[in-house]
Amino acid sequence: MAASIALLCFLLILNQSSSLVSASVQETCKTVAERSPNFSYNFCVASLSADPKSGSADTQGLAVIATKLVNANATSTLSTISNLLKKTSDDATKECLGDCSTMYSDLVDMLKDTVSAITSKRYSDAKTYLSAALDVGDNCEQGFAELEVKSPLTKENNDSRELSTLALIITNLLG
Ligand SMILES: *[C@@H]1O[C@H](CO)[C@@H](O)[C@H](O)[C@H]1NC(C)=O
Ligand SMILES: *[C@@H]1O[C@H](CO)[C@@H](O)[C@H](O)[C@H]1NC(C)=O
Ligand SMILES: *[C@@H]1O[C@H](CO)[C@@H](O)[C@H](O)[C@H]1NC(C)=O
Repeated sequence: MAASIALLCFLLILNQSSSLVSASVQETCKTVAERSPNFSYNFCVASLSADPKSGSADTQGLAVIATKLVNANATSTLSTISNLLKKTSDDATKECLGDCSTMYSDLVDMLKDTVSAITSKRYSDAKTYLSAALDVGDNCEQGFAELEVKSPLTKENNDSRELSTLALIITNLLG
């Protein structure tokens, strides 16, 4: 009996230490994937776990973390765009990059308002902002398609859409 209890404890500890992902992240991502079958559970877990604060965050905290991830991505995309602009001599590409730069700067501003909306429980405002955030990547991508130049930002635009979608789905869980 004592031996089997010891074994049980050992297995519990083993189980906990092998899953570095916090219970709240797992639970929230499970709900996210149930509500939006389209959305990848693994992407949700990988994205949220990137922030060490996710371990102790409640659902509201995870919505803020997801929104800040969109912000970190957008900020990094802005510097990618500025580097690309220095290297590019093609006028059409330059024009698209310039448009995308404006869109991503506006997005960064809007995400600051989104974080304050979530923390002050103005969830309906937050959802409006995040729905608009969702389109930024697609709008940027579409600019290149319209001028028939190859987009150098496909991955960034896709990440932006995925992360905004994640932030929106989690915010939807709040009410
Ligand atoms: C679901 O997946 C389709 C195809 O990838 C995509 O166009 C659509 O935006 C997704 N919907 C949501 C809610 O993520
Ligand atoms: C942007 O988001 C993607 C997907 O979560 C991630 O792999 C990448 O590291 C992020 N980049 C930055 C700079 O945060
Ligand atoms: C967009 O990002 C998601 C999550 O990282 C990935 O599963 C998907 O394959 C990507 N799609 C494209 C077109 O890059």
